Amino acid sequence: MKVSVCGKGGSGKSTVVVLLAHELHQRGWRVLVADSDESNACLHWMLGFENPPRPLLELVGGKKNVQREMRSGFDWGEDKPEMSVLASPQVRAADLPQEYVSERDGLRLVAVGKIHQALEGCACPMGVLSREFLKKLRLEATEAAVVDMEAGIEHFGRGVETSVDAVVGVVEPSLESVLLTERVRQVALGSGAKFAGAILNKVASKDLATGLADQLKARQIPVLGTVHHHDEIVRSCLAGNVLDSTTAQKEMSSILDALLAGEPTLARVDM
Ligand SMILES: Nc1ncnc2c1ncn2[C@@H]1O[C@H](COP(=O)(O)OP(=O)(O)OP(=O)(O)O)[C@@H](O)[C@H]1O
Ligand SMILES: [Mg+2]
Repeated sequence: MKVSVCGKGGSGKSTVVVLLAHELHQRGWRVLVADSDESNACLHWMLGFENPPRPLLELVGGKKNVQREMRSGFDWGEDKPEMSVLASPQVRAADLPQEYVSERDGLRLVAVGKIHQALEGCACPMGVLSREFLKKLRLEATEAAVVDMEAGIEHFGRGVETSVDAVVGVVEPSLESVLLTERVRQVALGSGAKFAGAILNKVASKDLATGLADQLKARQIPVLGTVHHHDEIVRSCLAGNVLDSTTAQKEMSSILDALLAGEPTLARVDM
């Protein structure tokens, strides 16, 4: 199962990715988190890893090589040894050299690559590499990949979602976030991916929950469940610690039930 977590900037995509990864892991799935956000710096800490893995962009020889592949139609040149992993039709996380995968007890993290310098050019090569990696990524029935997407919907334009099984939209209590989630649903369907539903996040009160649920219902956006506002999440994000909130984890448990059952509802409000 490959799940892509999308939404507006700051809505809580990385937080949801971590909670979802922990929940799947706790239920016995082997989980691969794919960091597909070129500006996100803290995901490895939130997952409890001291250091990030080396980015896949380095494995394929950097942005210029990816740009060359984009022009030549992605044969991932068999004559270029650094790209040999991606030259095969299917890739498992175990095929990647060790330094490109952080791993602890069956929970693994790969990162596509980051923007490091001003004027280094656009992030298209990272999007293309994400797309190609996810397309080739082979998972067993008990394995899940959870993808932390960059904010917004540009990644849909690059086709990153073409091989994911489910797109999840993280929505915080703002109209902007609701409208973005509506776009996410449209472009997900347009790219052939299944829109699994919205996850309400950072909901701090019953009236905000109702207001957000109403906005989603008015747009026929199905809901998987709610992660409320939790101070522990803010605290661990501020300190750069592993995300640790028992209540949020419990909330994610029922969200995962709804996701696995394929049963989102229209605007369920639970406070
Ligand atoms: N359920 C929550 N309760 C309280 N705070 C939250 C919750 N979810 C996220 N946050 C806070 O919101 C901030 C943004 O969360 P997060 O980094 O997960 O968002 P994001 O969508 O991944 O952001 P970006 O677009 O920058 O990648 C975090 O610093 C965290 O403190
Ligand atoms: Mg993020």
